[in-house]
Amino acid sequence: MTTRNPEEYVHGHSSREALRLSDQANTLSSLLHHDTVYPPGSLVLEAGCGVGAQTGILASRNTDLGIVSVDISNASLCQARNAGKAGRWENVSFARADLFELPFPDEVFDHVFICFVLEHLRNPPAALTSVRRVLKQGGTLTVIEGDHGSAFFYPESLHANECIRCLEELQKEMGGNPRIGRELFPLLSSAGFRDVHVSPRQVYVDGSRPDLACGFTRQTFTAMIEGVRDEVNRRGKMSPEDFDQGIRDLLRAAEPEGVFCYTFFKAVCVK
Ligand SMILES: C[S@@+](CC[C@H](N)C(=O)[O-])C[C@H]1O[C@@H](n2cnc3c(N)ncnc32)[C@H](O)[C@@H]1O
Repeated sequence: MTTRNPEEYVHGHSSREALRLSDQANTLSSLLHHDTVYPPGSLVLEAGCGVGAQTGILASRNTDLGIVSVDISNASLCQARNAGKAGRWENVSFARADLFELPFPDEVFDHVFICFVLEHLRNPPAALTSVRRVLKQGGTLTVIEGDHGSAFFYPESLHANECIRCLEELQKEMGGNPRIGRELFPLLSSAGFRDVHVSPRQVYVDGSRPDLACGFTRQTFTAMIEGVRDEVNRRGKMSPEDFDQGIRDLLRAAEPEGVFCYTFFKAVCVK
């Protein structure tokens, strides 16, 4: 089965998660998007736009584009539309769509953009087949995903490692793959794309980068782990006390004497 219940998303659709996605997008904007530039006049599909956190960055970096941003969640789309109105993203239109059953004709988009979506899907190869259908010959697909196995930090902490392991387990139980970043090359190649180029994008945070410590270590990564606290607790995966110790330890990595490292993977390929 490839279609998804919009509520089946490990991080949920709360306003806190919307804020986290915005913090994540803004903090990582230049690392992930300095090279997300499309030829003027292109029509771009953003599949799985969520609350529009990446949409705003795409729209502001590429003003002479048509962008069609779709998501399966009405709640997220509503926030994305509001953000679009507030930000005056004149070149973006939003629509509700399941990316496994895209309501567009074959080969209509010049480029497709997907960010932090495949890692939550039960069947990424089917999603890639679906977006490939609506992409023109010679058009590009850009995919950006995380890989939670790439996270390491100082001071080390068994509790924090255990918290991350619990999030990964939850995501897998919901059909996702928290370490999909490292698999992008084989995934895209076997989906029939050519000229696949994957670049690791490492976020390295230490005491000399207080903005990143706040925007990434605290407000993106630790907030993501904190967001599954209740579910981890409900499923008895870790005691609340141990979980909270893990969160405190992650926050120590955001202090001036701490260090945090995480690697995203960005792939660009051609149909
Ligand atoms: C982690 S969020 C990322 C949102 C956005 N790309 C960003 O980076 O901020 C994943 C999004 O994928 C959407 N999604 C999951 N399954 C989907 C599907 N089958 N079709 C369309 N969107 C889907 C979810 O509703 C959610 O908004």
